[in-house]
This record gives sequence, structure tokens and C-alpha cells, in this order.
Amino acid sequence: MKLESQTQNIARAVKRVCDEYHSRREKLLQILEELNELYGYLSEYVMKEVAKNLDMQVSEIYGVATFYSFLNTKPKGKNIIRLCQTVSCELAGKQRIANALENELGIRFGETTPDGMFSLEYTNCIGMCNQGPAMLINDDVYYNLDPEKAVDIVEKYH
Ligand code: FES
Repeated sequence: MKLESQTQNIARAVKRVCDEYHSRREKLLQILEELNELYGYLSEYVMKEVAKNLDMQVSEIYGVATFYSFLNTKPKGKNIIRLCQTVSCELAGKQRIANALENELGIRFGETTPDGMFSLEYTNCIGMCNQGPAMLINDDVYYNLDPEKAVDIVEKYH
């Protein structure tokens, strides 16, 4: 019963957002962005409802949702760590930082810790190229990293 009302609420919210854009297919990206913002990610149910409203295939919605890195199809952790994978940071030792973060958190890149505290992701250049390796934690920028420093920084977010 409770689950049913929850799905009805989601269906209503999706319809409201789609209506705002007159359910126009060319507004799909804006619709998905808004729903991603609302729920933190795009669940299968949300994507199914968007498909219904826009008269599209769920696979088309899924294709767009997985193409853009600012859209999530899985729930994210409270803190999102984004390690720069672009060439300057790569040459400056990004892989050592990646290994240290994976060991520290017990997850791989693309995953979220079971307690929901951290997600590990790669990002492209964040503008700190001459001070790499660099990473973002949420909106905070960290650079000149070494493995120990990266782990110490992450610990402050626990
Ligand atoms: S290459 Fe990593 S910040 Fe630019």
C-alpha cells in the first residue's frame, strides 16, 4: 500500500515535470536533469514513466541517461569523489591515487560504499593540470595529491 502511493507520487512528479516541457521529446535532457536533481538519480521506474509521458522507448531514455556523466542511473553516496583522469593527472600519478582510494574505501570506481557515504568516479580535467594529480570531493578541489594525502583528505569526510 505504502509502496503503491510512493510510486504514484513519483508518477505524478514525473508527469508534472514532463508537462512543464509540454512533453516534448527535444526537451528530454532538461526533463531528465530536473528529475535527477529531484531524486538524486534516475531510477528504472522514473525512466519508465518519462518514456510513457514522452511516448518513447525506455531504452531511448536509458541511452540518454547513461550517456551524460551528470545524470545518474544509480543512487550516489553522500560524498562524491571525482578523480581527474585526463592526461596531465594521469602522468602525475593518478593511478596510485586511484588504487589508494579503492583500498581505503573497499570499492572500485563507479561504485558506492555500502553505508552510502562515498561514491568513487573519474572526471575529466578540472583545471588543476599543473598541480596534479587532482580530485574533487563534492565541490571541494584537492591537488598535488599523493596516496597518503588523498586518504587523509577522504577521512575528514567520514
Ligand atoms: S588534467 Fe587533471 S586537472 Fe587538468
